[in-house]
Formats: sequence, structure tokens, C-alpha cells
Amino acid sequence: MAKLWIAVVFGTIGILASVASSQLSVGFYEKQCPQVEAVVQSFVQDAITRKPGVGAGLLRLQFHDCFVQGCDASVLIDSTKNNSAEKDAPPNISLRGFEVIDAAKAALETQCPGVVSCADIVAYAARDSVFKLGGPFWEVPVGRRDGTISRMKEANASLPAPFFNVAQLTQNFAAQGLSQDDMIVLSGAHTIGIAHCFTFSPRLYNFSANASTDPTLDPNFATALKKQCPPGKAAAFNSVVLDSHTPIHFDNSYYVNLALQKGVLGSDQVLFSDAATSKAIKTSSVDEESWRAKFAAAMIKMGSVKVKTGQQGEIRKSCRAVNHS
Ligand code: HEM
Repeated sequence: MAKLWIAVVFGTIGILASVASSQLSVGFYEKQCPQVEAVVQSFVQDAITRKPGVGAGLLRLQFHDCFVQGCDASVLIDSTKNNSAEKDAPPNISLRGFEVIDAAKAALETQCPGVVSCADIVAYAARDSVFKLGGPFWEVPVGRRDGTISRMKEANASLPAPFFNVAQLTQNFAAQGLSQDDMIVLSGAHTIGIAHCFTFSPRLYNFSANASTDPTLDPNFATALKKQCPPGKAAAFNSVVLDSHTPIHFDNSYYVNLALQKGVLGSDQVLFSDAATSKAIKTSSVDEESWRAKFAAAMIKMGSVKVKTGQQGEIRKSCRAVNHS
């Protein structure tokens, strides 16, 4: 009997989760704003042509949006006198690409006022960034509504840290309904973009009582990182590319780097050092095609985390503030 109840409860949770994602649909704006994808794409492409790093920023923006209050553009809301918003939480301080979302939103508000949510613009912009940088293309299910709550504390509590081990990373993704495989596949996003020295410098200088430098780092790579990130506060905001091989190309070299012990973040390199996940890393390092397909599928799954649909939330007029604020 107990087993039956467990099956019923978990079956119901599974059904609820799939109902949430099935509330999104690919053709949602077909009638009210058919040009939405072309508009977002043109702003994203222009921005990346001018500065490729913006593409990495826009991809990370969707991840940080979805992990706090679900994919509802809560990460875009500015702090006010009475509220410290997600955006100002330390893990979000280096987010970039907000101006691209603002520009696309402004254009869409002129062409189809009050129709397209900021959360959907974020989802399109992430997809367009990946594609523009050579990654896979996927159809984005849309129909998300924008949230009205954005709290710094929640961002601090929900986003994973770069010193997490595999168990902590797995648990952090599980809290969003994402599996360990999803986590490994989505971490491949670190094939583009940068990290600031303070996010990984303990690996270079203060690793443990026995080893000042993390022994899972290739020694020559560690030397190169130390040059870019000398000890001390002055260099804390220097940055290095996450993928030293092809930094602005969306390919599987993230996994190749990990297998060569050239992962920048501790939370990346542990995926290769830990026996629980190393096989999946090796597989993606040699099978790029299958990782690309899995990445696209995992982005759709991440993009449906705790979405608001129907009458929930609102369609914000400006992505930076809730309506009637
Ligand atoms: C698995 C847990 C993860 C951790 C601990 C983590 C942590 C980090 C950290 C510390 C940085 C450097 C930030 C900086 O110094 O400015 C970073 C950058 C980045 N992350 Fe992650 N991340 C994770 C997963 C993801 C996922 C799932 C995605 C997207 C699907 C993603 C996309 C990115 C991108 C594109 C950058 C570069 C951003 C830029 O250049 O502006 N990350 N991440």
C-alpha cells in the first residue's frame, strides 16, 4: 500500500511538472506578434557581432533567471529603495547583456505592445546566442509570464557556487527538477565566456592544508592562470576565458579541456575528477554531435523550470521594473 501511495505521489509530481512545460508552446506569439523571433534575433546578432562576449552573458542570464523564482525574468528587475533584487546578489554581479534585452523589449513594445514577456525574450536571446556562436539551434517553447518578485537573498541561496562538489551540484540542480545528466550537459555552456579571478583563485593559492595549488589542475595551465591572476585583491576582477582552446566558439572543447585537467572553475574540474561523472565528461569530449543535441534538449527543460503561465504574473512593460511599481 505504501508503495502505491509513493507511486501516486511521485506520478502526480511528474504529471504536474510536465503540465507546466506543456503550457508553453512554440507558436504562442504567431497571431499577436509573429515577428518576435526575428526582432530578438536581430538585436542579439548585432550585439554579438560588436562584442562576442555578450552571447555568453545572455546564455548565463537565462540560467540565473530560471534558478531563482523560475524562468520569469525576475533577474532583470532593478533594486528599489525597499527591495534588494536578485541582480545585486554577488553571484549575479557580473551578469551581462541586460541592454540587449532592454533594446529588444523596447522594439517589441512599439510593434506589439503588452504581448511579449521579458522571460520569453531571455529564452529566445539565450538560444540565438548559442546558435550565433556555432552551437545547436532549437525551437523555443514560449508563453512564460513575468514574475513580480525578485529578492537578492533567494539568488544567494539558489545559485550554485564555483567551489561546489559533485554532490552539491547535483542537489542544487535537483532542487529545480533537473538531473545530474542535465547538469553535466548544461555545464558545457562554459565553452564560451569568462570567469573573474576571484571565482577560482583559491584553487591556485589556498587549495588545502596539503597543497596550495589544486592537484587536479594541469601544472602548466596552473602557471598560466597564476600569471593572469596574481595573488592579492588587486587582480580579483581580472578575467580569463573559460575555454582556453576556442573561447568564443560554442563547441565541446569544454569537455576536452576537463579531460586535460584544464578546467578553470573547481565546479567544472570536479566533474572529471569524480568517478560518478567522469564517464559522461569523457563521452561528451569525443561525441560532439550527441552533446549538441542533449544541450538543446536540456535548455528546453531548464527553460520550463517553474514557469508562470496563463493568468499568473504579468507582461512587464519594462523588463527592469514590475508594472505599477
Ligand atoms: C553547474 C553549476 C555552475 C556553476 C557553479 C557556474 C558558475 C559560474 C561562474 C563562477 C562563472 C564566472 C562568472 C564571472 O566570474 O563573471 C560562470 C560563467 C558562465 N556560466 Fe556558469 N556555472 C554553472 C552552470 C552554468 C550553466 C547551467 C550555464 C548555462 C546553461 C552557465 C553559463 C555560463 C556562461 C555562459 C558563463 C560566462 C559568462 C560571461 O562570460 O559573461 N553556467 N559560471
